[in-house]
Amino acid sequence: MGKKRQSDSTRKRGRTSSGRSGDDDTPRRKDGKDKQGSRKQGAKQSRSKLTAKTADKHRLYQQSVQDPASEVKFVASVFKKLRGRRAESLREDFCGTALFCAEWVKSGKQVARTATGVDIDAEVLAWGREHNLKPLRERARRIRLLQQDVRDPCPEKYDVVAAFNFSYWIFKTRNEIRRYFETVLRALEPDGLFFLDAYGGWEAEQPMEESRACKGFTYVWDQDQIDPITGNVTNHIHFKFKDGSKLKRAFTYEWRMWSLPELRELLLEAGFNTVTVYWDEADDDDETRYRPHERAENHPGWLAYLVANR
Ligand SMILES: C[S@@+](CC[C@H](N)C(=O)[O-])C[C@H]1O[C@@H](n2cnc3c(N)ncnc32)[C@H](O)[C@@H]1O
Repeated sequence: MGKKRQSDSTRKRGRTSSGRSGDDDTPRRKDGKDKQGSRKQGAKQSRSKLTAKTADKHRLYQQSVQDPASEVKFVASVFKKLRGRRAESLREDFCGTALFCAEWVKSGKQVARTATGVDIDAEVLAWGREHNLKPLRERARRIRLLQQDVRDPCPEKYDVVAAFNFSYWIFKTRNEIRRYFETVLRALEPDGLFFLDAYGGWEAEQPMEESRACKGFTYVWDQDQIDPITGNVTNHIHFKFKDGSKLKRAFTYEWRMWSLPELRELLLEAGFNTVTVYWDEADDDDETRYRPHERAENHPGWLAYLVANR
C-alpha cells in the first residue's frame, strides 16, 4: 500500500510539521502523529528495537504514511458544510488495514458512525481485524470488512465513499477508471459525497528517492520509473533500520499518474454532478489548509483532494 505524503519535500502535504491551523477541514500532516494511533504504535515499536526482522510492514506503513485522524476530520467537516448534516456511513475503498474505518467509527460523538472497508487482499484485511478492529471492542461491530474488488457491487448506500492514497490509480485506462467511478456513484446516498486524493507537481514526475526519519526507522519513498508516453509509474516504499537492515520494496505501486483535469472530467462522465478540488492554501511548512479552488499555482509537489457529489 502507499499513500499521500510519501515524499516530504516534494509534496506540500509532506513537509515537516508540528502545527495545526485549528481549522476543522485541515488534515494534519503525516508526522504530526495523531494521539491515539501513531504515537502509541511508535512508542511500542521503538521500545522493541526495530530491525527488518522484527518490524511489521503494515504497522510501519500506518505510522509513516497514514494520518486517519486528520483525514476523518476533513471528510466530516466538508460533508457537514456541504450537506448540512453529519455524515454517518462510510465506505472506504482499498481499505488495506482499515485504519481509516477504525478512526471513522471512533469519531463523531453525536452519531454512531458505521464503516465498510473494501479490499481485495484477505491477508491485509486479517491484519486490520486483529490490530485495528479488535482494540475497538464494541465499536468494532460498526465496521464491516468486505474482501472484494472495489468495482463489484455493494448492497448498501453510503454517505461517504473514500479512496485515499491514490490507490485508484491502479486503474490505467479511462474506461477502467470511469467504470470504477460509476460503481461508486451507485453506492452513494442521494446526498452522498465521494472523496479521493491526487498528487502531482514537477518533482512528482522525476525519478528520485526520498527519506524521512520516523520513530525507530526511516521511511523511503522511491519514484523508480516514470513513462512519459503511457503515464505509468512504478513507486516503492522501503524501510531502513538503525542496525543497518532494510525492508526493500516493502510495498510497490504500479500506477498511472492521473491529472486533476482528467479526473474531474472522468468523474463528470461517470455521472457525478459537480467535482470540487480542495487545494492546500497553507504557505508555511507547518500547516495544511485544504479549500475549494478553481485555479492554483503549480508547486514542485502538491497533494489535493477531490470531492464529487451526485
Ligand atoms: C495503497 S493500499 C491503501 C491503504 C489505505 N487505504 C491507505 O489509505 O493508505 C492499496 C490497497 O488496495 C487494495 N486493492 C488493490 N486493487 C484492488 C481492487 N481492485 N479492489 C479492492 N482492493 C484493491 C490492495 O490490496 C491494498 O490493500
